Amino acid sequence: MSGARAVTTNQPDIYDKLEEVVRKYASTEYLRPIADHTRIAFAEAEKFVLNFYEQKIPACAGMTMQGTDCAGHTAYKVILDSGCGTGESTLNIAIANPSIPVIGIDKSAARLTKAGIAPPNAFLVRAELLDFWRLALGKVKAGQWHIPYHALYYPNPWPKQSEATRRFHLHPIFPTLLQLGDTLELRTNWELYAREFAEAARIAAPHCTIAREAFEPERPITAFERKYKEARQQLWRVTINHV
Ligand SMILES: C[S@@+](CC[C@H](N)C(=O)[O-])C[C@H]1O[C@@H](n2cnc3c(N)ncnc32)[C@H](O)[C@@H]1O
Repeated sequence: MSGARAVTTNQPDIYDKLEEVVRKYASTEYLRPIADHTRIAFAEAEKFVLNFYEQKIPACAGMTMQGTDCAGHTAYKVILDSGCGTGESTLNIAIANPSIPVIGIDKSAARLTKAGIAPPNAFLVRAELLDFWRLALGKVKAGQWHIPYHALYYPNPWPKQSEATRRFHLHPIFPTLLQLGDTLELRTNWELYAREFAEAARIAAPHCTIAREAFEPERPITAFERKYKEARQQLWRVTINHV
């Protein structure tokens, strides 16, 4: 893994067209067709969630997708770990939230196959995030899923200025990403990415509470986080809460 290197960029400051790009996508819908392989992967994730609630919580057995969960919510709680890599964070989040199914999503089969033994509420799936998020938002809007927490830990930074619009916050998918859950947590080792992400969220979701801070994990919970910590890199976190 080359991730322990600090990010180098030819971009001196926040992307100069950030506001223009974010506002443009805030008023348009991302219409790229959803890939069949992600539809299939999403169906597997849906099945996992259903099975989890039917089998793991006896009191909930027999609920339909439109039913209420044990806490009285009208949708199944689901946590997403997007770009989970080797799934280490998925496992850690699942252990910390044993009553909620945690779906780790990554497009890299090579990384996913390195995952360790998962607790029963963790599920790893190979899929394209740009498609998976749109399918997940469909479930949220239909009142079938409720995503209390969404982890986006150390996404690819695309640090060259010419690659800026590949960053999630400068991409037409950003409004979908912002609508998915109650709390979205971005972690990155690139301060500029954290600043851009927070600024883009401020523009696209002015009703949300947005916090950006430097942080040092006592115990790293992802493979990249461990590498960065060992290399003594400063880490950054942006938390976006719907109020
Ligand atoms: C820098 S790694 C971080 C992995 C993990 N979160 C960690 O901290 O160890 C970024 C991960 O995001 C995945 N990824 C990037 N873009 C993706 C996309 N559009 N769809 C699915 N996975 C994606 C990559 O395959 C890679 O595993």
